[in-house]
Amino acid sequence: MPVHPATKEAIAAAAQALAKGDLVAFPTETVYGLGANALNAQAVARVFAAKERPRFNPLIVHVPSLEAAEAYGVFEETARKLAEAFWPGPLSLVVPLLPKSGIADLVTAGLGTIALRVPNHTVAQALLAEAKLPLAAPSANRSGRISPTSASHVEAELGGIPAMILDGGPCKHGLESTVVGVAGGEPVLLRLGSVPREAIEAVLGRKIASAEDGAAISSPGQLERHYAPETPLRLEATDLRAGETLLAFGPNSPRGALTTINLSLTGDIQEAASHLFAALRELDATKASAIAVMPIPAHGLGEAINDRLQRAAKAR
Ligand code: TXA
Ligand code: MG
Repeated sequence: MPVHPATKEAIAAAAQALAKGDLVAFPTETVYGLGANALNAQAVARVFAAKERPRFNPLIVHVPSLEAAEAYGVFEETARKLAEAFWPGPLSLVVPLLPKSGIADLVTAGLGTIALRVPNHTVAQALLAEAKLPLAAPSANRSGRISPTSASHVEAELGGIPAMILDGGPCKHGLESTVVGVAGGEPVLLRLGSVPREAIEAVLGRKIASAEDGAAISSPGQLERHYAPETPLRLEATDLRAGETLLAFGPNSPRGALTTINLSLTGDIQEAASHLFAALRELDATKASAIAVMPIPAHGLGEAINDRLQRAAKAR
């Protein structure tokens, strides 16, 4: 069985596996990642093969600190400001790639930029400290599917492909990191995620443009078919139709669904985010005719939740 509780010994073994070029799945505060040594092209190629991921879609490189990140990317004033405000934490910064960084070309898809992130999770940090390597780590799901927020999700997605799956329990945030591009000119919000737009704007002291607004740099990953359950989703549902399961939010949900999962009975948006992907997996497994999804407020983290739901609804 590749799933191991993330003990000191297991983390040491995982670091050795990474040094050999093997893949290790590990927990972060957002979702589980499928990690490889970002300096080893063969190891990185294994990540793309395992995920069946298109090669034009670059990976996020995980490092222990801003200081470590500066070995691979160029941090100008805005990037530094955001890193200092949010790291360690669920923000990925796309910055110019430092020449001679040693990062495998496949990681950055030859874009001349690199996405860097400092995770705020004791297991991820312990693994980075032990491995002493930058870790390229996409979410540990097959390309186009829902990101895993527990070790058992990773096992269901990737089975025995990683040499080890480190189990650090369920992920606290449950949505992927927010990706901000700061590779020249104005910062751009490339992917909504666990840091709400409003928090970034508060640090910048101004509004931030989204990639969809026609910004010069974009995030190739956003083009992909994404976050797809097999079962169709019916969004903004305020009633139930025959044969549907229900993804509920808040205290007042319609009754009579075959199965109901409530993302947060009290209407807490952070709690809802952390349960979203596990709930979609569970409802998908019931093979109902559709998943009815109650309206979820669109501000704060709700913007990212609605983004993922819309992609999941469109993806079929
Ligand atoms: O929360 C997360 O970010 C998780 C955990 C494991 O850290 N990782 C994750 O990785 O979600 P992934 O590969 O599923 O998503 C990475 C996103 C993609 O949308 C990709 O296109 C974008 O980041 N990205 C990576 N490098 C980029 C670059 N140089 N320029 C623009 N977008 C980039
Ligand atoms: Mg992903």
